[in-house]
Amino acid sequence: MSAIKSILHETRIFPPDTAFVKQANVAGTGAYHALCTEAERDYQGFWGKLAQEQILWHKVFTRVLDESNHPFFKWFDDGELNISFNCLDRHLATQPDKVAIIFEADDGKVTKSTYRDLYRRVCQFANGLRSLGIAKGDRVIIYMPMSIEAVVAMQACARIGAIHSVVFGGFSAKSLHERIIDAGAVAVISADEQIRGGRAIPLKSAVDEALAMDGADSVKSVVIYQRSGKDVKWHAPRDVWWHDLIKDKDDTCEPEWVNAEHPLFTLYTSGSTGKPKGVQHSSAGYLLGAMISMKWVFDYKPTDIFWCTADVGWVTGHSYVAYGPLAMGATQIMFEGVPTYPDAGRFWKIIQDHKVTTFYTAPTAIRSLIKSGPDLPRQYDLSSLRLLGSVGEPINPEAWMWYYTVVGQSRCPIVDTWWQTETGSHMIAPMPGAMPLKPGSCVFPLPGIMAVVVDEAGHEVEDGKGGFLVIKRPFPSLARTLWGDPERFRKTYFPQDLGGKYYLAGDSANRDLNGYFWIMGRIDDVLNVSGHRLGTMEIESALVANPLVAEAAVVGKPHDIKGEAVIAFVVLKGMRPQGENARKISTELRDWVAKEIGSIAKPDEIRFGDNLPKTRSGKIMRRLLRAIARGEEITQDVSTLENPAILEQLQQPIK
Ligand code: WTA
Repeated sequence: MSAIKSILHETRIFPPDTAFVKQANVAGTGAYHALCTEAERDYQGFWGKLAQEQILWHKVFTRVLDESNHPFFKWFDDGELNISFNCLDRHLATQPDKVAIIFEADDGKVTKSTYRDLYRRVCQFANGLRSLGIAKGDRVIIYMPMSIEAVVAMQACARIGAIHSVVFGGFSAKSLHERIIDAGAVAVISADEQIRGGRAIPLKSAVDEALAMDGADSVKSVVIYQRSGKDVKWHAPRDVWWHDLIKDKDDTCEPEWVNAEHPLFTLYTSGSTGKPKGVQHSSAGYLLGAMISMKWVFDYKPTDIFWCTADVGWVTGHSYVAYGPLAMGATQIMFEGVPTYPDAGRFWKIIQDHKVTTFYTAPTAIRSLIKSGPDLPRQYDLSSLRLLGSVGEPINPEAWMWYYTVVGQSRCPIVDTWWQTETGSHMIAPMPGAMPLKPGSCVFPLPGIMAVVVDEAGHEVEDGKGGFLVIKRPFPSLARTLWGDPERFRKTYFPQDLGGKYYLAGDSANRDLNGYFWIMGRIDDVLNVSGHRLGTMEIESALVANPLVAEAAVVGKPHDIKGEAVIAFVVLKGMRPQGENARKISTELRDWVAKEIGSIAKPDEIRFGDNLPKTRSGKIMRRLLRAIARGEEITQDVSTLENPAILEQLQQPIK
């Protein structure tokens, strides 16, 4: 195959500051390499030792990895444990009064829950679930707002061995229905309403609607947390209030000891073919990934105030809200609202008010905050911050620089963490005290993660050439299968074209001559311009590097001569330009890209919008933009689109 060509050349480099290195959990490049060498020398010994150190086992495993049924790997599979025990009970003796969760509501009201309090609430709720007849292996849908209760619901399922499947509260009744059916759920845990950005959004009525559709009769119970107090329709005896369910329940609850491979949860991700995939995770391997990355990547310290802004509806909110921080005994922030309410200073205010030390968010949030208030962070005291993180999309070097200088005040390392719902925890990410950073690169694979870049035949490409990102060996936190569809799991992630051996992530990447990884975008989005295969990220980053530009997305459109022409959708920092002004800026930006990275990548056309179409988790919907660029009718489901109105703007070529 012609390799995917890398055209972006970022030369800035930021070594960690000596003071940071001194206190780091992994200090210095030598320490990182030592861990990698250990993993290479004795792969099973390496993971086995970590699993012994990090996890509290009810029955210790004797086997580390079973690869006999490739790619359905098993880890630590004769061990027994309970995840909720690992997140809560373990702290009762040592730090019962430490605050586990600081919850800030949309309206600013703050509630705190200590480890002892959280333990009691989880036990009570777990007893409540048991009283409804819910038992080990049953599937429970959680469709809740960001709240302490959402974490309690997840932990309570884990405590009794029920398999939770969290559905993001922004999804429609139809999506909820699809997931209920696929999972064969016996219960739904939800709320009357959720409150975001000053607005109440109904949840209970969506549950009712989903359950009224065909085939949802596996659901026997609906538990409703009263968030807003709004009147809701009631279907007794199916529906029960959260507060009634726990009323007379004991605040201790014997955990269900489960096998290491027992499914902790499934989480649906949208597949490119439409039918959502129920990504199924294990218990022990998953927990180990979440814990070890807290230590290695977030350099977790007991004094940290940790804040991952992700909703519990996404994998990031599982690993770095509901499980990782609690297993480590951290104090963390949970925030109910949105970054722009009451104004675009909200995140910075929360950091200031709660003295957040570690802040982890998505590039889409960073870019929108740059657009709406580039200087706002300077009005807040952000001196408590010591580490910043990014996840979900490639972070363009210029957005990285803003994050680094304005938010981190050139003091805090940024961990750009590459991973996926399927990988359960960080795969490629800096260990912030062990390696210099390059803006836009997710740096090196973690120890024990054998990530490489290969061509279409599965052969490793030379450094500096792009290709498919794969992981050569199984690792503990890898998803075990797709719920009810093992064949789809095998075909999607271990395709025969690559020999069936490696985990195919679906992203294109380039490892540069210093071994740094650069994610170039999804494989499906690669452009083919005059025989050069280009990832989307590099052209987008070149555009974002222009001072006028806040966000950009590029897609290909068929072209008679070149094969594909580059079409760029751009959001400016100021107003959306019109007429003559749009023409002028468009010419300027096209020339800019040609100058920055070469004329091969020069967009043939630029269109401006007030925003870009994004999924609810903030990823740019390039497939939809491709249809728009080609003037095709939009057949994609746009019901989950955050901002449907902007499609019309983007459909207009500059005249
Ligand atoms: C993208 C989110 C570049 C990537 C944890 C991946 C990233 C997909 C990064 C998974 C990053 C995530 N740099 N790209 N740091 N993090 N991605 O399943 O395309 O919601 O395959 O998991 O997001 O998204 P998911």
